[in-house]
Amino acid sequence: MGYLSRDKANLQRTFDPAEIPADTVSYCFLSELRFSGTAWGAEAEYQFVFDQGRLALVSMRNRQQSPVVVDFADRVFQRRLATGLRGQLLGKALGLKNLRNPTVLDATAGLGTDSFLMAHAGCLVTAIERSPAIFALLEDGLRRAAQAGDALETHLEAARRMEIRRGDFLMMDWPDRAYDVVYLDPMFPTGRRKASSRKGMTMLQTFASEDQCESELLPQALRCARRRVVVKRNRRSPELAGVKPTLKLQGSRSRFDVYCR
Ligand SMILES: C[S@@+](CC[C@H](N)C(=O)[O-])C[C@H]1O[C@@H](n2cnc3c(N)ncnc32)[C@H](O)[C@@H]1O
Repeated sequence: MGYLSRDKANLQRTFDPAEIPADTVSYCFLSELRFSGTAWGAEAEYQFVFDQGRLALVSMRNRQQSPVVVDFADRVFQRRLATGLRGQLLGKALGLKNLRNPTVLDATAGLGTDSFLMAHAGCLVTAIERSPAIFALLEDGLRRAAQAGDALETHLEAARRMEIRRGDFLMMDWPDRAYDVVYLDPMFPTGRRKASSRKGMTMLQTFASEDQCESELLPQALRCARRRVVVKRNRRSPELAGVKPTLKLQGSRSRFDVYCR
């Protein structure tokens, strides 16, 4: 199972694979993980569990760390959604004032927070994630959002505007100028001290920091974009691939570098 070593951490599961919905793309990945209780399992750093119908990743080394779940119905996230993107830096970076319902390729989807925000703001989002473990969490969160009841009608609409694909953006075939916007938020290689204290970020760093090929992302993104490429950076991070953007939007914690075509 090559992807396990690539994912760096040892993983185990404590649920019956029969619990996984049959149309789940990450079914193979989740079902191939070993059951807990074995000697191998005892060394695992992370454990996948089904907790109240939600897939969660639990740290075995640090019991203080909250389980990582993708929950687009989370109250804090609800408040972010309610604020809307148009007046925010991300909305400005995407050019939402002039672009109506743009197609967006989120080439580094992670746990899908930015993708969902963009879909909620009306963008048609295709989100790519290469880590099978992170993809499994994202897929589960999106599956639940797509089943939300009347109270979360806007979730349903956002979930319908979002398509997720497992794979490496750099290894996939993309037609030239296929999307209005290509969005990149690669893992910052160093210096993201505050990020590791945020929920989910420690886990993301464990699974996603290897084999970045950061500098290759920008040329591929520029080829795929019709209008612009938006790169999320840490406030003080250098420009991606050392290429100067057309526009820099500086926030308190992060920055958006915009490359217009
Ligand atoms: C900082 S996280 C993205 C966080 C995301 N914007 C969010 O809102 O949750 C970066 C993610 O990009 C993924 N990634 C990095 N390079 C990739 C590539 N070439 N293709 C697909 N995914 C990639 C990593 O596995 C990681 O999950």
